[in-house]
Amino acid sequence: MLHIILYRPEIPPNTGNIIRLCANTGAQLHLIRPFGFELDDKRLRRAGLDYHEWANVQQYDSLEEVAAALSDSRIFSISTKGTTRHSDMQFEDGDALLFGQETKGLPPEWLDIQAKERVLRLPMLAESRSMNLSNAASVMLYEAWRQLGYPGGV
Ligand SMILES: C[S@@+](CC[C@H](N)C(=O)[O-])C[C@H]1O[C@@H](n2cnc3c(N)ncnc32)[C@H](O)[C@@H]1O
Repeated sequence: MLHIILYRPEIPPNTGNIIRLCANTGAQLHLIRPFGFELDDKRLRRAGLDYHEWANVQQYDSLEEVAAALSDSRIFSISTKGTTRHSDMQFEDGDALLFGQETKGLPPEWLDIQAKERVLRLPMLAESRSMNLSNAASVMLYEAWRQLGYPGGV
C-alpha cells in the first residue's frame, strides 16, 4: 500500500479530490491538523464521496506523530524546492508521499532535515511557481503506483 500525507490542508475541494484519488487507487490518506475546513464541510462533500471513502482517513496533530505512525515507511516530501525529479525515484510498497499546504508548502524546518533524495519535485516550465495540490498528488501517486505495477488496479 502507498500512503498520502497532507500537511494542514486548507482548501476543501483539494482534499475532497485527494480522498477520492486515494479511494480509487487503494492509497491510505493521512491528514495533519489543523485543516482550513471542517471534515464535514459541504464543499468537501461536493467531491461526491461515499461513506467508506471518508471512513479510511487517518488524522494527526503533527508531522512527528504521522512519522512515528509510519515508522516502517520511507517518507518522501513533495516540494517545489526539491532537487530530485519525481520519476527518478524507484518507489516501493509502503512508501509515503507528503504534500505541503496550498499557501505555504511544507515547513522549512522539516525540509531542512530531509535527505535531498527524499525531497521530490515535479518538473514544470521555468516561469511556473507550483501546481495545484490535488493535481500534484495525482501525478505523484500515479507515478508511484505505475512503478509498482498498479497492484489491485484493473
Ligand atoms: C500550491 S503548492 C504550494 C506552493 C508553495 N508556495 C510552495 O512553493 O511550496 C501545494 C503543494 O503541492 C505540491 N506541489 C505543487 N507543485 C509541485 C511541484 N512542481 N513539485 C513538487 N511538489 C509540488 C507540494 O507538496 C506543495 O507543498
